[in-house]
Amino acid sequence: MTLLTDLLTKAAKLLRSPYQKMDEGRLKAFVTPCLEYRDVFTGLVREHGSPLYVLDEGRLRSRARRFRQVFEECLGSVDVFFAMKSNNMPEVSRIMVEEGLGLDVSSGVELVQACEVGATRIFFSGPGKTEEELTAAINQADRVTVLMDSFGELRRLDHLTRQYRRMVCAGVRLTTNPNGLWRKFGIPLTSLAQFLREAHGAPFVKLEGLQFHTSWNLLPDAQTAFIARLRSELLDLPANLLETMKFLDIGGGFWPEQGEWLRAAGTPFGKFINLLFPGRPDTVSRFWLESCPIDIFADQIAETLQAALPKTMNCRICLEPGRWLCHEAMHLLMTVVDVKADNLAITDAGTNAIGWERFEQDYFPVINLTHPEIEEHPCDILGSLCTPHDVWGYSYHGTAIRPGDLLLIPTQGAYTYSLRQDFIKPLPEVTRLPQLRSARPPQS
Ligand SMILES: Cc1ncc(COP(=O)(O)O)c(C=O)c1O
Repeated sequence: MTLLTDLLTKAAKLLRSPYQKMDEGRLKAFVTPCLEYRDVFTGLVREHGSPLYVLDEGRLRSRARRFRQVFEECLGSVDVFFAMKSNNMPEVSRIMVEEGLGLDVSSGVELVQACEVGATRIFFSGPGKTEEELTAAINQADRVTVLMDSFGELRRLDHLTRQYRRMVCAGVRLTTNPNGLWRKFGIPLTSLAQFLREAHGAPFVKLEGLQFHTSWNLLPDAQTAFIARLRSELLDLPANLLETMKFLDIGGGFWPEQGEWLRAAGTPFGKFINLLFPGRPDTVSRFWLESCPIDIFADQIAETLQAALPKTMNCRICLEPGRWLCHEAMHLLMTVVDVKADNLAITDAGTNAIGWERFEQDYFPVINLTHPEIEEHPCDILGSLCTPHDVWGYSYHGTAIRPGDLLLIPTQGAYTYSLRQDFIKPLPEVTRLPQLRSARPPQS
């Protein structure tokens, strides 16, 4: 009986929803500026074909400037490294470099690309770096800092740097959660002193910083909680080791202001209901999880850092944002090929263009630019892959939907382009959004 009560209490807690219903006014405010760009998007597809990714360079640049400015107002000079994995289009990285950002890479392939776009400051993070990848980092030692992920990696880097007799700057990643799947990243906080001592014995590894990364942060709580935990470990470190620390990299994971937009299937309650009634999944409800503005992130993180970092530790703060920078800077266009019923349309694009079944859980408006209207109508908008999970949405904004109509899904810049798959359908090309003075490009 107690077990049953316990289970029911836990289930009730899990199903208690922190998700608010999506406010229709918010949605309209999001869709309206997209309609203003109707002719521009139509012209781009006429010129470059469909489906098509559209890169908004102006938006990307302004996000990069704002991010740095906000953190510098709170922390003084900081180093920002764009997390390339969030959008690996070379042009995006090149623009970030032009804006004075470094690049955060997680593989040898990304490292080569970062060098090709002219990055002069590169953080190489990630677990399981191979000997080839470490060697590539050593070969680019004038611009790469290796963020070591384990004792094993330190030993491999020690061995390789001795072999090449080349000095490499390095940091070490700290595990933020020692349980579950996140323990695969970094070393436990409790091993930090031992790691620093061991690195001291590696003559060509110049260990000068610490890194951590917490993901999917709608609020700064996970980041500030970890910084507070780090304090007690830092206070226990011998002064000579502490003094060698020149940077603290607090990672990325800053959620855009838009918040998280979810369908029922993306919430615990919705998942539960869909399991109970698999024949009638809820495709109508939309939910919103609030995220806080970037200046609140910066304020609270700065306040925690000021209290947490020992006075003897004189280090620069580094950040590795991905999605906050690029989410709003790319849009996806596609064309309706077939309308099989009033409520069933098939597009030329398949979700291989974004590489995952995103829109089964996440909600983004599908906007019909050919028959534009702010009102939304129910209709399954599905891609042309041979899988029923090839879903773009269950509604569109427009007066009607017909073969040949041009559809827009705005703000698809993060973790879509880099995950695209060469599967069944060709991949969309990318073109740039011309900057118009009169209209406001799509954004949250
Ligand atoms: C080490 C590291 N830094 C930065 C990022 C970027 O995170 P986000 O795009 O959420 O800002 C990631 C994402 O997985 C990461 O693993």
